[in-house]
Amino acid sequence: MRLLFIGDIVGQPGRRAVTELVPRLREQHRLDLVVANGENSAGGSGITVRTAEEIFSGGVDIITSGDHLWDQKEVVQLLEHEPRFVRPLNYPPGVPGQGSTLFESEGLPPVGILNVQGRTFMPPLDSPFQSALAEVERLGRSTRIIFVDFHAEATSEKAALARLLDGRVSALIGTHTHVQTADDQILPGGTAFLCDAGFTGPHESIIGREIEPVLRRFMTNTPQKFEVARERVRLQGAIVEIDNTTGKALSIQRVSEALGG
Ligand SMILES: [Fe+2]
Ligand SMILES: [Fe+2]
Repeated sequence: MRLLFIGDIVGQPGRRAVTELVPRLREQHRLDLVVANGENSAGGSGITVRTAEEIFSGGVDIITSGDHLWDQKEVVQLLEHEPRFVRPLNYPPGVPGQGSTLFESEGLPPVGILNVQGRTFMPPLDSPFQSALAEVERLGRSTRIIFVDFHAEATSEKAALARLLDGRVSALIGTHTHVQTADDQILPGGTAFLCDAGFTGPHESIIGREIEPVLRRFMTNTPQKFEVARERVRLQGAIVEIDNTTGKALSIQRVSEALGG
């Protein structure tokens, strides 16, 4: 099977890239499943019911999230009622939502989708290592095909979780930095790995936001309003080909598609 994972969708330009490019990518690469990180899809911060609907309508099957999860209050509706929405697993017990889901469709083996958040240079959560290991073991009772979106800042933390899960999951791809890395590889146990998928949205920007206010914030240490930028929209992520029987990755290919280019 072939899975496309899409890095953080930023604002309206990011959503437009999804609705315009995903249908073509689905056909061109004969994709079986599309997973996207949606933590920045509503005006750059968080996700709403409407923005999630727009992303699903473009052909995304499952939406994952990250540290911007709580930026829009109505996310609770998604957490409580949307089976296609996954939040970082490693919140304490009792928090609404699910950290993983099992995607099932006609003619395909079930696919486990897991979202975990890092702790290095990020808000503290439960250990992503212990939580992911336990959840992968649980999902492994239902399927051999497991995809992990590890939402984390530090490249070392992402590489470490990938090594821990090597041979136990089909692919682990990082999100959060919004900068696509060039380290796509298949680890010795058969797990495809990419430190960061990049982001889907306006690249004439500083990681998706207008350049000037971000620069002013760094230059003056004063609070600024960060608007979502507009120009040079790209969809970024990676396509992973997975052996249906063994669950091991056969290939991983980075994607960086220009909108209208
Ligand atoms: Fe993030
Ligand atoms: Fe993000």
